Amino acid sequence: MSRKYVIAGNWKMNKNPVEATALINELKPLVADASCDVVVGVPFVDLPAALDAVKGTRIGVAAQNCHWEKSGAFTGEVSAEMLKSMGVGYVILGHSERRTYFGDTDVTVQKRVRAALDAGLTVILCVGEYLEQREQGVTGEVVAMQTKIALGGVSEEEMARVIIAYEPVWAIGTGRTATAQQANEVCKLIRETIAGLYNAAVADSAVIQYGGSMNAGNAAELLAQPDVDGGLIGGASLKPADFAVIVKAAE
Ligand code: 13P
Repeated sequence: MSRKYVIAGNWKMNKNPVEATALINELKPLVADASCDVVVGVPFVDLPAALDAVKGTRIGVAAQNCHWEKSGAFTGEVSAEMLKSMGVGYVILGHSERRTYFGDTDVTVQKRVRAALDAGLTVILCVGEYLEQREQGVTGEVVAMQTKIALGGVSEEEMARVIIAYEPVWAIGTGRTATAQQANEVCKLIRETIAGLYNAAVADSAVIQYGGSMNAGNAAELLAQPDVDGGLIGGASLKPADFAVIVKAAE
């Protein structure tokens, strides 16, 4: 197994372009010799500043969503093609905040994944259960369903450009992290789901992240789990020193 760790920050709706440049400039020396992949997921308006700030480094830049059409009458939307044209490499799709507040469904997430892959982007696909679903004992079913629908129509070759982030909704922004065992259990289940959809080789090479209150203090234990190949980090990604500790923990 030679999976590469990917540590990605999801800044959510934080930082203007000037602040984005400052944050990335602070981060650069701290992760200069990281052996894992490092990505920053920034608001749309910060993309030009972020792309400029990461020049000459190995830090990747992600958008936090994209529309599934290439262009057209979709006021307020941004297409995958537009992101690709400006040099963006990654897009976060299906985040629970998009699903909860902005009406994303498994079906629209599938369409966004399709468009992003067609445009040549790497997708960070988010899946995860609500607290009620965990308490009802349907975490496995929910996460497997989200994974299967989102990957509908994605080829084996394209899976090299799909990262999956397991983000239990109850752990996002709450300070309540999944235990390392809970995180690994669901990441493993996602890997088994991928094996079922494709084959063992695709599943073995798939990068599966954990996200949800991952921080400088708990990252090492989470990342030490055999099926956890990285992190999607919200709050702690806005603090360069903390984010750098998580990057180090992935090495
Ligand atoms: P927090 O790390 O702030 O819990 O956010 C996780 C997340 O939603 C990353 O996408």
